[in-house]
Amino acid sequence: MRLAINIDHIATLRNARGGSDPDPVKAALLCEEAGAVGIVCHLREDRRHMKDDDVQRLRSTIKKKLDLEMAATEEIIGIAIKTKPDLVTLVPERRLELTTEGGLDVVAQKKYLGEVVKQFRQNNIPVSLFIDPADAQVRASADIGTDMIEIHTGEYAEAKTESEVREQFQRIQETAKFGKSLRLGVNAGHGLDYDNVAAVAAIREIDEMSIGHAVIVRALFVGLEQAVREMIHLVEGKTNQVRRQVEEE
Ligand code: PXP
Repeated sequence: MRLAINIDHIATLRNARGGSDPDPVKAALLCEEAGAVGIVCHLREDRRHMKDDDVQRLRSTIKKKLDLEMAATEEIIGIAIKTKPDLVTLVPERRLELTTEGGLDVVAQKKYLGEVVKQFRQNNIPVSLFIDPADAQVRASADIGTDMIEIHTGEYAEAKTESEVREQFQRIQETAKFGKSLRLGVNAGHGLDYDNVAAVAAIREIDEMSIGHAVIVRALFVGLEQAVREMIHLVEGKTNQVRRQVEEE
């Protein structure tokens, strides 16, 4: 199990004053030092956090994986192909949303997304599709030749009652298993925090988690490296603990 950190909020804070501090690249290097396996950034059409220059500087500076989250629009596809990130994660994007609100509807956009995936693959850039935990979306993703899926964990994170949590957790688990059975890489993310991450991290079929908000918020109080280390501990440490329990049963 591996942890990639989304650093968009560092850019949001920087943009609040219009200067150059805090620098997302500096933050990315600290995340790497603390053990993150990758850095995630979302270049939005409205450039509300990451700017084009941030993405270029991240590409030329960080040592680990760069995962570029993006909408499948012509402009951003062009930037991604020039930048050559280690992974692109395609997400739906709506201008008025505060953050990504749900997964891509790959079933409905199969033809268009299929062409986009093909374009990236021709440029040797692996693709992940951010989807809701639903078998039909996984199958459509596999059909169009994506390398990976990222399972949207937002509904699990927002579930209020125990039965809702259990239901949403099962959806994630079944989707991860189905994705693996179709030989897809399986990532997960959105809304995960220090309280809800362990259960998802214990799902064997999930390769990597992408976490931003909770880690950056915690970093305000304990520092970024410490916040990343604490999350890694939960993602890896508790994973093993939960797995041991499952294996002993
Ligand atoms: N994965 C995707 C596809 C996202 O859009 C986001 C939010 O930018 C995340 C993961 C991280 O979500 P959070 O900031 O809630 O941890």
